[in-house]
Amino acid sequence: MLVLGIESSCDDLSMALVRDGQLLANVTASQTVDHAPFGGVVPEIASRRHLDHLENTLSLLLEKSGEPLSAVQGIAATYAPGLVGSLLVGLNFGKALAFALQVPFRGVHHIEAHLWSAFLEHETQFPFVALIVSGGHSHLFWVKAFGDYELLGHTVDDAAGEAFDKVAKLMGLGFPGGPAIERLAKQGNPNRFGFTRPQVKTNPLHTSFSGMKTAASEFFRDLKKDRAELAPQDAADLAASFQAAAVDALATIAGRALDKFPARALVIAGGVACNGALRTAAAALTEARGIPLILPSPKFCTDNGAMIAFTGEQYLRLGQVSPLTLNAVARLPLGA
Ligand code: KG4
Ligand code: ZN
Repeated sequence: MLVLGIESSCDDLSMALVRDGQLLANVTASQTVDHAPFGGVVPEIASRRHLDHLENTLSLLLEKSGEPLSAVQGIAATYAPGLVGSLLVGLNFGKALAFALQVPFRGVHHIEAHLWSAFLEHETQFPFVALIVSGGHSHLFWVKAFGDYELLGHTVDDAAGEAFDKVAKLMGLGFPGGPAIERLAKQGNPNRFGFTRPQVKTNPLHTSFSGMKTAASEFFRDLKKDRAELAPQDAADLAASFQAAAVDALATIAGRALDKFPARALVIAGGVACNGALRTAAAALTEARGIPLILPSPKFCTDNGAMIAFTGEQYLRLGQVSPLTLNAVARLPLGA
């Protein structure tokens, strides 16, 4: 079945065509340059830029894939969670196209799509533990089958990517912060600054990043004193020490989940899954347990239309369609 997937939950508008689980093409209209001056995503700008990019993104996708619009047999679009203005643009475009083409439509949960992004390139092994870490989410799931998710734990405050972005902003490294921190950390000493590791008493599978963020701002203030900016080695050591603490927090909850559940694999997805230090820490967890580590390629870790088309196609093949009255939802837990 040829399915068009549309993702617009935050600042990237991305569309993809998937046929029978195989990706034909993916086109993303990025807005990084529009938001960079503000050090974060400005919702009003994001939705307006999505509107500007809709037609071109679809034309480019059709051109790249060699498929005419009339060949599309189903449409999937993200409907939750995310910035409502941004979600509405992609969702309404998808619903209108489905109505015009008279093909079935499926709304897709953004976190569920991140989870399945790993299977664009890998085989599925049920049951597995999945850690979804992005700019808005840090969630740990027990996945028994497609559509069967149990939320084991989550961050109790900032998301992992949000913490990377905030520390990068504080250090004047630009937006998005994750890749900037990772680059700088390569030259730094991860043991120089002692970041306390989070312990959430209510659930050992929960985690927290706000303490780490506060500690980073205190270290930064002490290092900066009267200087205009940090000395390069101080900046690299701070980035490396923060990254080590953030990765450790994520690896700790993933390791605890693997100890508790008979998982056949560990899946890590979402923007923060691009991080090399996290990938290395996760590999140590799975090697010790003799199970595979399933990671999407970096291009499928950050927001993309491919994961929406892939997830949507599975629902559409099961005949599980959404009504064209489906609305955008800013917050919607998965598996809770
Ligand atoms: O999944 P995504 O594209 O969007 C959301 O759904 O939020 O994730 C974006 C997040 C940003 O916070 C960004 O800083 C983070 O992923 N990120 C990284 C890296 N690349 C992107 N964080 C740490 N290390 C990276 N290499
Ligand atoms: Zn995302």
